[in-house]
Amino acid sequence: MNTQSQTMPGRWFVGAILLVFVIWLATVLAVSREPAAYGVSVAAGESKFRDHCGACHIVEKGITTHHGPNLYDFGKIAGTRKPGLTAAQYVLESVLDPEAFVAAQNRHGMPRNLASNFTEADLRNIVAYVVSRGANANFEEISKLPIPDTVGVSESRVVRREDMELAERVLRERGGCLQCHALYRNAEYTIFAPALFGVGLSDEALLRESIVDPNKVISPAHRWVNVMLTSGKVESGKIVGQSPERILLVKRGDANDLVQVVIARDEIDEVDGQLEITTAVQSPMPTGLDKLLSEHELDVLIRMIRQLN
Ligand code: HEC
Ligand code: HEC
Repeated sequence: MNTQSQTMPGRWFVGAILLVFVIWLATVLAVSREPAAYGVSVAAGESKFRDHCGACHIVEKGITTHHGPNLYDFGKIAGTRKPGLTAAQYVLESVLDPEAFVAAQNRHGMPRNLASNFTEADLRNIVAYVVSRGANANFEEISKLPIPDTVGVSESRVVRREDMELAERVLRERGGCLQCHALYRNAEYTIFAPALFGVGLSDEALLRESIVDPNKVISPAHRWVNVMLTSGKVESGKIVGQSPERILLVKRGDANDLVQVVIARDEIDEVDGQLEITTAVQSPMPTGLDKLLSEHELDVLIRMIRQLN
């Protein structure tokens, strides 16, 4: 009892010193992991993200978006996407050069020239924000990422959420464009008509003309044919399959939908021993679509197609 009461104050003292030291060390470590210590701001990154990326990328759990992939907790997976790239390097590359790597489950269509909207500091902040989602970001690394000067390098393009939603509505409902066109480059859906996003359609005048006056320039890969039948009927459409006995044609139905037609070769007229199949002079793309849309809808549609190419 006696010896104990003599050594207690000594132990208390050492314990207190140790505690102070541990608190000091923890503070130093915590501060040095703070983004501000490296001149990076997650909050500023979040705000830029909301304005420039949020039209396509949702960050709330479980909500699927129509355009960009959901980036909820993306910090956890960013570093596993592309071999050899850390999370921060991958996110930066995704913004600077989106086509450099597209994850297998994603569709193409991230705009290529977004980076020209941002200063170097903006880009670091955006990377810090995305990489911090669900993971501890390495702010020291982010502060040292090599970033080329991209400001103003190409025409700045901002994708606004209202525009995105309006364009989507026009493509799906008002203009019925998606009855024929796939949105994204994806071989199996582009047999009938070219994809609209990610395929290089960026010339504004040409885009407008393609929609307002589709017959003016017809892309050769998508020309349709007229098949003269012995019955006197003509079937117009695109040949998508042939066998020695039959031809498989895809044509436009009454509701502008796509309909498959099988035609036996012996139902087709012959001229000088050749089946009477001629190339159509009309584009399969219907005319008058622009009349269905308001000026504003047409403008937004064209802007969106340009931005996503
Ligand atoms: C117009 C739509 C759109 C906008 C705006 C957009 N993205 Fe994307 N983003 C996409 C699409 C589509 C993909 C998938 C294709 C790809 O990886 O390039 C994608 C992919 C990504 C990926 C890779 C995701 C993965 O699963 O590997 C990251 C990271 C990313 N975007 C970050 C951003 C950031 C940061 C911004 C804003 C500076 C931004 N995006 C703006 C559409 C968009
Ligand atoms: C019935 C099918 C169909 C519908 C509906 C349709 N398109 Fe098309 N579209 C095509 C085909 C086929 C082509 C390729 C032939 C051509 O160049 O005329 C094409 C061509 C285009 C092109 C030019 C692409 C290029 O590579 O030059 C654009 C842009 C376009 N369509 C946009 C639209 C928009 C926007 C809508 C809705 C308002 C729409 N299309 C509705 C079938 C359709």
